Amino acid sequence: MKTLRDIELKGKKILIRADLNVPLNDDLEITDNNRIKQFVPTLKYILEQGGIPIVMSHLGSPKGQPDSKLSLKPVALALEQLAGAPVTLAPDCIGSSVQTLADALEPGTVLLLENLRFHAGEKANDPEFAKNLAALGTVYVSDAFATAHREHASMVGVPKLFQERVPGFLMQKEMDYYEKALVNPERPLCVILGGAKVSSKLNTLVSIAEKADKLIIGGAMANTFLAAQGFQMGRSLYESELFGTCIELLGKLARRGCQVYLPVDFRVAESPKAKSGARAVTAQEIPADTMALDIGPATSLLYEEAITNAATIVWNGPMGMFEVEEFANGTTDLIRALGSAHGLTLVGGGDTDAAIHQMELEHKFDYISTGGGAFLSLLEGKSLPGFTVLE
Ligand code: 3PG
Repeated sequence: MKTLRDIELKGKKILIRADLNVPLNDDLEITDNNRIKQFVPTLKYILEQGGIPIVMSHLGSPKGQPDSKLSLKPVALALEQLAGAPVTLAPDCIGSSVQTLADALEPGTVLLLENLRFHAGEKANDPEFAKNLAALGTVYVSDAFATAHREHASMVGVPKLFQERVPGFLMQKEMDYYEKALVNPERPLCVILGGAKVSSKLNTLVSIAEKADKLIIGGAMANTFLAAQGFQMGRSLYESELFGTCIELLGKLARRGCQVYLPVDFRVAESPKAKSGARAVTAQEIPADTMALDIGPATSLLYEEAITNAATIVWNGPMGMFEVEEFANGTTDLIRALGSAHGLTLVGGGDTDAAIHQMELEHKFDYISTGGGAFLSLLEGKSLPGFTVLE
């Protein structure tokens, strides 16, 4: 696959798909600008090489029509500050006024198109919509790793209309880390999976079961695995319809010689709101009127020990209900342990990043993916249409 460095950019209009889908608060202020920051190196390189960048992105999920709350206006301001170049926000992403702005664009300046999802054609991968977008540039660059699992117009329809289509630096970095950690990992490979439901991570579990040397399970997902083995989980969340699947998976992992780690204790309470009643109990003695809301301290130690000799560690999903302080320890203990682990550490998935950013420990990890759904797709062993189209 060609890279951005293989392409002559000078004087050309470069149509770039970025993922600038950042969280906004009620005052429409950006609460985490990480995705914009991660895109800046690609944008700066294109500017330095004399390319004329036209950037497109979605923001949130407007219903195929304009929604002022989901305008890219705050993103344009942040991008201008972070990139140190003037950014003009176009009134739309296609149409004659946008074409005029693109045609008149001077080197050293950036045109940001308005939210792609203001048009139904984006999600529908409509050929006409794709054609209109493609008319804006002569080279296509995709840096939108976090959207690469979506077969949307700007991700797959548009690049097909370009002879020159390459990944940007962020897309390249994401795929390189994925390759290093999950395709050709240094072993032992330890995968840590958390989150609420086995059902939403079933494909991931099946795929990981074929690769990992160690599998650590946390979050409410672990409840289903324990309940399937006969543990009394009180009022904890679990999915009884998946007991058979869990037992089958455990059997498969055992046959492959993969070590599986499940919680040996929990922090429980009558409900997530009954914080004062929060206490640690062993997995064998969960009171019938309580629910497991976090892994316990003994489990944290067990998991810390399990990762010490791993050469590669991949983590997705919190260990408990970390947004409530009383049930955050399992996740924060794991972040600290991973921060001092010797192996390569790759983390992905929205919730997990948020916990690391809250603790300001990003620098302790080898790589934190900008992808949520896209990262999970890779964990599931799927290929990403927004990346393969560049091949
Ligand atoms: C994300 O936040 O995961 C990406 O921007 C993709 O957004 P989507 O899930 O709305 O397609």
